[in-house]
Amino acid sequence: MFDALFNHSIFKRALDQKLITTNVYQIRDFARGKHHVTDDKPYGGGSGMVLKPEPLERAIQCAKKDHPTALTLLLTPQGKTFNQNMAWQLSQEKTLVIICGRYEGIDERIALNYTDLEISIGNYVLTGGETAAMIMMDAIARLIPGVLGADDAALCDSFADGLLEHGHYTRPEQYEGEVVPEILLSGHHKNIAQWRRESALIRTILKRPELFDQTQLSTDDIAILKKWTTTIETIIQKQSTHCLDSLSGPGKDR
Ligand code: 6GU
Repeated sequence: MFDALFNHSIFKRALDQKLITTNVYQIRDFARGKHHVTDDKPYGGGSGMVLKPEPLERAIQCAKKDHPTALTLLLTPQGKTFNQNMAWQLSQEKTLVIICGRYEGIDERIALNYTDLEISIGNYVLTGGETAAMIMMDAIARLIPGVLGADDAALCDSFADGLLEHGHYTRPEQYEGEVVPEILLSGHHKNIAQWRRESALIRTILKRPELFDQTQLSTDDIAILKKWTTTIETIIQKQSTHCLDSLSGPGKDR
C-alpha cells in the first residue's frame, strides 16, 4: 500500500534526496508458526478480530532497536485528532514509529505499554491505519526543510497561521468571462499582500468560521474585519430603508 505514497511526486523526490527515510515493517513477518497468524478472536466474544500482542511487540521492538528515541504513535479512531499543528510538532521529531491498527483493534496491552500517543485522522472509521499513516506522513514530510521546492511554501499554507489561504489565479487573465482581481496584476507587492490577507480572512469567515476560535489576529486583521463590518452594516441599513419604503407603499394595509 505504501508504494502509492513513496513512489510518486514530492514524497518520492524527498526520499531520493534522502531528506526523509522510511521503513515499512510487515507485522506478519514477526508472527511465529507455520501460518504466521497475526490476529485472534476477542476475549468476551463479539465480531471482528484483534491484532495479537506478540508479533506486534516484536515488530515495534525491531523498529525501536534502530531508533531508540523514536516517538511511537498508534493510529486509531480513538486517538487525538490529527491537525496541522500536530503535523508541525511531529515534523520536529527525528524518528516516528507509526503503528497501523487493523481489524477491530490491537490488543489493549500493546496500546497501553508500547505507544506514546494515539492519533486519529478524523471522526470516521477506516478498515486499517495504513491510509491514515500515509496521510500523516504526507502532511509531516512536506514540512521538513527542502521537501517542498520553495522553503517558505509551507509557511503560507492554509492552516499555517490558523486561517484558510487566499484565492489563487494563473493564466489566462480572463476565463469564462471571469477576470483575475486587478490588484494581482498590478505588481504592487504591498497591495497584493494586503489583498491576500483580506481574501484569507473573508474565506475563513465564509467557509470555516470556527477556525477563528484558535487564531490570534493582528490589529491589521481586526481593521480589515471592521471595514467589512461597516460594509455589511451599510447593506443592512439600506435593506431596512427598503422595508420602510415598501411599508408606506400600496401594500401597507395587508
Ligand atoms: Cl488512525 N485508524 C482507523 N482504523 N480508522 C480511523 C483512523 C485511524 N482515523 C480515523 N479513522
